[in-house]
Amino acid sequence: MTVRQVFRRFFPYVKGDRKLLVFAALLLLVNVASDLVAIWTFAEITDNALVAGNLNGFWEPAGLWLGMTLLGGTVAYAGRMLTARVAERFLLKLRDTVYAHVQRLAPDFHQRYGVGDLVARHSGDIDAVEHLVASGVVETFVALMSAIAFAAAALWMSWELALAAFAIAPLFLVVAKWFSGKLRVAARDERNVNGEISSAVEEGLANFTVVQAYNQQSFDQHRIHERGVSWLRAKLAEARVSAAYTPLVGVTEVIGTLGVLAFGAWEIEAGRVTLGGLIALTGYLGYLYPHVQELGQLQLTVNQATASAERIAELLDAPIAVQDPKRQLVAGRADGLVELQRVSFDYTKGKPALRDVSFVVRPGQFVMVTGASGAGKSTIARLLLRFYDPAAGTIRLDGVDIRNVSLNLLRDNITLLPQETAIFTGTVRDNLRYGRPDATDEEIKAAAYAADAHKFIMALPEGYDTELSQRGLNLSGGQRQRIAIARAMLRDTPVLVLDEPTAGLDGETASRVLGPLRRLMAGRTTILITHDLHLATDADQIVVLSHGRVAEVGTHHQLVLARGEYRALYGDRLDPPTMPLMPVR
Ligand SMILES: Nc1ncnc2c1ncn2[C@@H]1O[C@H](COP(=O)(O)OP(=O)(O)OP(=O)(O)O)[C@@H](O)[C@H]1O
Ligand SMILES: [Mg+2]
Repeated sequence: MTVRQVFRRFFPYVKGDRKLLVFAALLLLVNVASDLVAIWTFAEITDNALVAGNLNGFWEPAGLWLGMTLLGGTVAYAGRMLTARVAERFLLKLRDTVYAHVQRLAPDFHQRYGVGDLVARHSGDIDAVEHLVASGVVETFVALMSAIAFAAAALWMSWELALAAFAIAPLFLVVAKWFSGKLRVAARDERNVNGEISSAVEEGLANFTVVQAYNQQSFDQHRIHERGVSWLRAKLAEARVSAAYTPLVGVTEVIGTLGVLAFGAWEIEAGRVTLGGLIALTGYLGYLYPHVQELGQLQLTVNQATASAERIAELLDAPIAVQDPKRQLVAGRADGLVELQRVSFDYTKGKPALRDVSFVVRPGQFVMVTGASGAGKSTIARLLLRFYDPAAGTIRLDGVDIRNVSLNLLRDNITLLPQETAIFTGTVRDNLRYGRPDATDEEIKAAAYAADAHKFIMALPEGYDTELSQRGLNLSGGQRQRIAIARAMLRDTPVLVLDEPTAGLDGETASRVLGPLRRLMAGRTTILITHDLHLATDADQIVVLSHGRVAEVGTHHQLVLARGEYRALYGDRLDPPTMPLMPVR
């Protein structure tokens, strides 16, 4: 990205604060002016009080100097506070925007980038852009104006001496130019490696238990170490360039100052400049150099910012998975008629995940979806909730294409019970009402009863007010699942999508959640994705998927008797008659 593109893209986030930014710049300019005057008063003191040996010439410039310092300090304080305010508000706005956008991307997006990398983009990269676009604008402007003002003041003191000092300016430019190219590459590498290492650490810690159980600590450490080594290399490459910069500039600066002093001695002798004048001149030059240096380093800020801006723009430009409809066709609570009509979908081109899948679930009916692993079952759940849209075919809720239902309304009507129960940091109560923040304590308790969760919740140290750890590690699998069921009950939607609600639970625990599940499903349109046959005889219809296609449809009986795919999948569990072929209702 060019600087222009970065500004066109990100400067709008300063909107509303532009006046503040201008005001901050003005305050900082007043500070520059007060410095100019303060240095001049020093020259006055030197010539009229020190050299003349007369205290009378001291008071006025001394008072002025003190006054200027107080004024300068005050405006500098105010200017920096304002700049910081604008900068932080910019950061907040851009962070919120990026996060909101990332939330609307397809669910597999964070897998592609790695959570850690997204975190790095959300923090460091946004900071780098801010350094250019918000506070950077003020700082650059003030540095430029200061450089001009101090240069002009130096020329006004003694143009011969000032010009002699400026003669070394091209040296600065050469140094700056030489560094900028190297720094651009180094900055980009550093940002990328930074994202990678965050992702690797995040992954290792997230899978902590497996890492330990499989004795893969050293492999995991090695993985982090390798990223660490890349980071070290990138950082050192960056340090090599930027560490050399300051000393080199410093040497250039000293050469200039010494030259001026030598030339100055001669000029004083010739009477063309006073001692005070010479001191003021070196003062102006001393104030001038840091600003020139800052301007020289501008390239560094720009390089870091453009590298980061590219990474943020990449996120912001990632297409969102599904669009809200322009026109809303329905409102309110659905009856719960769900229809899939010749639905096809593929995550990657040429590898169909679903092909021509059709089935209908009438309001209140219970349809079980089963099939081998990878057959496309969870994909159906994702399409129903519109995490993705079908490539072909339509899904209807109450007869309306769900692409014409707002995402909010759609998801207010369908509750998904994912296989992995999400537990959030907070109390049990907070977790239960996650899907319905306005639920009363009575409703929460009723839902917990129905989900067979009340008892174990009361056995927790502080009952409903017990803090749950992130990922719910202080709960067993079955307990987590019952929390999820209670949460789903509270949402009370007409349509339920359950993705393997008993997977990962042992036989006994699984049968314990059957009662709660049946209570949850009662009266709701339910699509249950499962390999577990416990509820098979309850199902009004079973849809058997195979390689993304509907292989068979029927009741448990019909499918067992049909001796097709269903029988092939579950025959071993049916043949020794551990499972009654006739429903026991
Ligand atoms: N994010 C993704 N990107 C690419 N391919 C995917 C993605 N998610 C799933 N797939 C592929 O789509 C196909 C269907 O996946 P799906 O998750 O629907 O299977 P499933 O029937 O739910 O399997 P399981 O019983 O193992 O949960 C699989 O071949 C899978 O590899
Ligand atoms: Mg699945």
